[in-house]
Amino acid sequence: MKTVLQSPVDPEFVQDPYPFYHSARAHGNLVYWEDYRKVAAVSHRAVQALLKDRRFGREVPDEFQRPAAAHLAPWLNVEAHSLLEAEPPRHTRLRALVMRAFTSRGIAALEPSVLDLCNTLIDRFPSDPFDLLDAYCTQIPVITICRLLGVPEQQSPDLLRWSHAMVAMYQASRTRQTEDEAATAAQEFTAFLSDYIEKRRSDPQDDLITRLIEAEEEGEKLSRDELVATCILLLNAGHEATVHSLGNGVKTLLQLGLDPRNCDIDELVEEILRYDPPLHMFTRYAYEDVEIYGHRFKRGDEVALLLGAANRDPSVWNEPDVFDPTRPVVTNTSFGGGLHFCVGAPLARLEMRLALKVLFQRCPNIRLSAEPNYSNTYHFRGLTRLVVQA
Ligand code: HEM
Repeated sequence: MKTVLQSPVDPEFVQDPYPFYHSARAHGNLVYWEDYRKVAAVSHRAVQALLKDRRFGREVPDEFQRPAAAHLAPWLNVEAHSLLEAEPPRHTRLRALVMRAFTSRGIAALEPSVLDLCNTLIDRFPSDPFDLLDAYCTQIPVITICRLLGVPEQQSPDLLRWSHAMVAMYQASRTRQTEDEAATAAQEFTAFLSDYIEKRRSDPQDDLITRLIEAEEEGEKLSRDELVATCILLLNAGHEATVHSLGNGVKTLLQLGLDPRNCDIDELVEEILRYDPPLHMFTRYAYEDVEIYGHRFKRGDEVALLLGAANRDPSVWNEPDVFDPTRPVVTNTSFGGGLHFCVGAPLARLEMRLALKVLFQRCPNIRLSAEPNYSNTYHFRGLTRLVVQA
């Protein structure tokens, strides 16, 4: 297998990782990414196959668990009870509880509330240049997930702060300061939710937190730690990626001078998700010795699945570096696949569809006011700011 070298914090790579992906893929389905000291799947075929292969999973195999660093305890406690980090049967039980709230029908019912939110935010746009990421792309997913869960919207600045600090743990630029901030955020977030859950026990509503509290009270289905970790996961995952899918998408449209009103909106959303997804890498552990694409994985080996590379695979998409919202839709890997396939995919798609449609209807002359730059946050791919004049 070919060894490739590429620092994930190299400024050129941060701005445009796709040339690296192409050169890595030219060596085959798998490469050894030296900087991560991991085998990485770079073709669409390999990424899809590994996402669906039950001999690989997210939970660290028992004998490879390391003693937890004390300073990270609050963050690790949330992780340990998160469905994203679980495998069956725990994963099956936790996922079934949240899936009831994320059916396509349930999500479609949110349309009027999301539409209203988009319009309200646009009413507040200033006449001078402003950051669309902050004024629009962030607010739609964070407020929508608060409404769905039943958490007060006024809490959203805290939720954003806690969430950013916690997800920074997955970024290549992680330092000891990142770890301390993530632990503090996890502690504050847990304290807020524990308090809020107590308040909500005697105040049931038609929202997800009420249903999760009921499941916890029934005992077997959900423990207290799992209840808190599930709420944190939904609140964090519910906005982090959607914000940047929207931001990256609007940036591409404005740079290319494309108007969503001339596109099929569903195809446009899929092309935005394929072309410049917000999450580029997830990892899996091998649960047994297994040979794939000529490489022998041993139990406990980690493999990186490069979603951003899979989406630009020329064996699946013609001229993959061209943004073409009219191309036939082929399932891309931006929402993952297999057991951990994104619970929020229908919600994210709804938000993107409505946010793009309303933005360009209401602001037909919207244009970039400054060159947008990507943040140094690999494997997350999102802009620092998106300054526009509406
Ligand atoms: C465009 C926006 C989004 C993208 C690109 C995205 C992407 C992903 C990906 C790739 C995974 C799988 C990770 C893996 O296989 O290791 C995932 C899982 C997940 N996502 Fe999303 N997501 C988005 C929006 C959302 C939203 C709005 C929610 C709402 C709550 C959400 C909730 C979740 C949850 C709970 C999981 C864990 C599922 C499991 O482990 O079974 N996501 N997401």
